[in-house]
Amino acid sequence: MGGDYLKIGDIMEFFVDSADTELIKKAYSMGLCDGCTTNPSLIKQAGKDHKKVVQEISSLIPGPISVEALSETAEGMVKEGEEYITWGKNIVVKIPMCPEGMKAVKILSKKKIRTNVTLIFSPLQALIAAKAGATYVSPFVGRLDDIGHVGMDIIAQIKDIFVQYDFETKILAASIRHPTHVLEAALIGADVATVPPDILFKLSNHPLTDSGMKKFLEDSKAWKK
Ligand code: E4P
Repeated sequence: MGGDYLKIGDIMEFFVDSADTELIKKAYSMGLCDGCTTNPSLIKQAGKDHKKVVQEISSLIPGPISVEALSETAEGMVKEGEEYITWGKNIVVKIPMCPEGMKAVKILSKKKIRTNVTLIFSPLQALIAAKAGATYVSPFVGRLDDIGHVGMDIIAQIKDIFVQYDFETKILAASIRHPTHVLEAALIGADVATVPPDILFKLSNHPLTDSGMKKFLEDSKAWKK
């Protein structure tokens, strides 16, 4: 059972998968934002300067903010990472899963710079990233579902591998498409789910809660004066 893996004190975290500062602020005020993940497409959507938007997010929330390196060489990624961490105290360098990326993760982890290895689509990729010293691995569940695989299966397999070898690398379930993905990730024991704001805000909704509240409010009018 996934729950058996959890050590006392471990708790699942929710990150906001967005660079929209208004939505990040809203999620944080609701207690739904333990951190944030960005990527080049999300920065493009936000329509703001990369550095400025990251600095703005960093001033809004204390939790880790993943910022993606864009270079194609290990040397370039390390350079970018060293710059990113000057943008805020809570920056994690996002590195793509590729040989140059793994070299960069090794170097950054020796320098005590936190990394999030992104674009993970197999358990073996996650194992390699963990061996290189990644702080987080990001398996993309939704994109695997999109091509007819069961994306959540790799979260479960990565969990088994990490428990087996006692890796400290955290599993960050990414490419989340609906609330059930979050539920399944929680049941497996993923450390984090990074969730688009529209899905994040749906997590606490239930029609029976709404109708129950409405009825209690109506009934209270009979005796509340
Ligand atoms: C994770 O860090 C990525 O930003 C994200 O989850 C990608 O999701 P998508 O497949 O919806 O683009």
